[in-house]
Amino acid sequence: MDHFNYRDGELHCEDTPISEIVESVGTPAYIYSKQTFLDHFQAISQAFSELDPIVCYSIKSCGNLHIVKLLASQGSGMDVVSGGEVFRAQQSGVDMSKVVYAGVGKTDEEIEQAIRAEIGWFNIESEAEFENIAAIAARLGKEAHGALRINPDVADARTHAKTTTGSKETKFGVDIERAKRFFHTYGKNEHCRLDAIHLHIGSPIYSPEPYVKAITKTLEIIEELRADGFTINTIDIGGGYAADYETGASPSYKEYADAIVPLLKPFKDAGGTVILEPGRTIAANAGVLVTEVQYIKQGGAKKFVICDTGMHHLIRPTLYEAWQFIWPTKVAPEFVPDKRAKDLAIDGLEVSEIVGPICETGDYLAKDRPIPPVDRGDLLAVFSAGAYGMVMASHYNAMPNPPEVMVGGDAFLTIRRRETYEDLVAAERV
Ligand SMILES: Cc1ncc(COP(=O)(O)O)c(C=O)c1O
Repeated sequence: MDHFNYRDGELHCEDTPISEIVESVGTPAYIYSKQTFLDHFQAISQAFSELDPIVCYSIKSCGNLHIVKLLASQGSGMDVVSGGEVFRAQQSGVDMSKVVYAGVGKTDEEIEQAIRAEIGWFNIESEAEFENIAAIAARLGKEAHGALRINPDVADARTHAKTTTGSKETKFGVDIERAKRFFHTYGKNEHCRLDAIHLHIGSPIYSPEPYVKAITKTLEIIEELRADGFTINTIDIGGGYAADYETGASPSYKEYADAIVPLLKPFKDAGGTVILEPGRTIAANAGVLVTEVQYIKQGGAKKFVICDTGMHHLIRPTLYEAWQFIWPTKVAPEFVPDKRAKDLAIDGLEVSEIVGPICETGDYLAKDRPIPPVDRGDLLAVFSAGAYGMVMASHYNAMPNPPEVMVGGDAFLTIRRRETYEDLVAAERV
């Protein structure tokens, strides 16, 4: 799952005590385990190896340049969703032919930038976008490649409404019926070669079944389109593989692969290319957000633990009602958790509202959460914070963003410094 463990009651990232890092960089701070990134990337690549897929890490999940570089050095491709992420990919030294570019609102400038960068595929979200990409490619005298994003109308009931994308009525892609018309209109375009199909059904998806349903539908449509004379040599099955917010909550990579690989093997064996776009499953468990308790306060029947971080640095609880395990970084032996779970059978826990300093009632990290008793000055770790954590941080209430630290064994490196007040106003000095 990851390399965050308690040793003698103290949380370590790999072989480094969290307290040692905090002494150096302060709080709040995002702390990542390099080995966890590597393990996850290698494990997913290995599980799907029969398909020899291009694994395109989703930069949006955790886009620090050092992390993107680390994964690029392992042979990863990248899934990007903006010109800024194309730029990050370029800076990482990744093979740009292994870059896929999704997103419903790509601007002319972004499209031109991506064509010039010679990315692998644009994931095409609409007819108007296709026409625009083809026109820009023609103007530049280049050939782009397009993967039509289809909505197979499949969803996982456990996926939050704000992160499900595979149903008909989302802003992403086109529905299956429209996909056929799409190919008949644009499938022979010379400037943007429509030679791939893309799908992404949401995130997190806690079982292989929705993928099986979606891929089965997609293969059917590919067969029909091929029978109509279209060349489709690539299928991109998106991301969404779950993470262990609770110990053992997500299926293993092997479980996903056991269900998905047999479906795609014939496509692969016939010369096709398979792409995966995992983000969360690689990054989530690779990071924690460490915060210092500022105050304890009673409000009616509730005990509030007020921290120096909140929704401005980790918005998932506020935005998606996401549950993340939170625990002190130093605990007495009886409070060392044997797993990360909602239902820990430990005596002496105190139900707390763990909140941040932001002037919003919605600024919380956890509600009604049993944790060991804590005091002002104690450190808490918010686990599984590597994905959709720092990348979604804001400056709300003029709060500088925290540093990011990468641990490798018993050494650590600040891979993004803590922001200063001057950083907050720098772009306003006009
Ligand atoms: C098109 C696309 N691919 C991949 C991902 C990555 O999803 P995850 O981080 O859950 O693997 C997303 C997430 O929003 C996405 O929209």
